[in-house]
Amino acid sequence: MSIISALNWRYATKRMNGEKIPNDKMDSILDAISKAPSSFGLQPYSILVIENKELLSKIKPIAMMQPQITEASALLVFAAWDKLSEKQVDTFMQEIADTRKVTVDSLKELKGHITPLLKKSDSDNFMWHARQAYIALGVALVAAAEEGIDSTPMEGFDNAQLDELLQLKQKGLRSVVLMALGHRDAANDYLVKLKKVRRVKEKLFIKMQ
Ligand SMILES: Cc1cc2nc3c(=O)[nH]c(=O)nc-3n(C[C@H](O)[C@H](O)[C@H](O)COP(=O)(O)O)c2cc1C
Repeated sequence: MSIISALNWRYATKRMNGEKIPNDKMDSILDAISKAPSSFGLQPYSILVIENKELLSKIKPIAMMQPQITEASALLVFAAWDKLSEKQVDTFMQEIADTRKVTVDSLKELKGHITPLLKKSDSDNFMWHARQAYIALGVALVAAAEEGIDSTPMEGFDNAQLDELLQLKQKGLRSVVLMALGHRDAANDYLVKLKKVRRVKEKLFIKMQ
């Protein structure tokens, strides 16, 4: 499928049929997410992959009883680091050094760009981390469409309650956005036949002279 065909095919699926996604497709989507760009390459988030039906049924009431939560094959919870620590920055430097076979010392300039962020408030850094998580969500949406897998990005949930249920605070994380992955239930999803509504390109894009 070309990328435009995939984007036209996908839609924010309201009803899914409960069928399991083949493992290879799930792996491809997760692999694509792992390749998402982020500021400095820090990837200041984790993605929880939830397939356990019992846990999904506990999440549903926290997410406005949206049926996709339990009809999906898997639910991804994009959760951003709640703060930025020196240890996380040092670990990142070590990962670059190990991957590129360079010394940590040779990365002083890069580290010098990141360390001022340690002085920012935890809430500012969380917001920055959350913005990176949304880029990963965007990549995930395109990757799922390319694999012919339906998905729903979801902000309709209570972040604090979900953090509590999944014990995210203990993991240094806060939930940002969800993504249900599965197969559309075409017979019961009113959206499946509706045309996409998008702002006209003349308004969306401002071509500067
Ligand atoms: C960040 C974000 C949060 C969203 N939250 C929800 C949600 O909680 N439930 C839902 O059914 N759709 C949700 N949507 C889907 C949007 O309503 C949908 O993407 C938009 O109407 C465009 O339609 P399309 O994705 O079908 O092309 C969300 C989309 C985004 C990007």
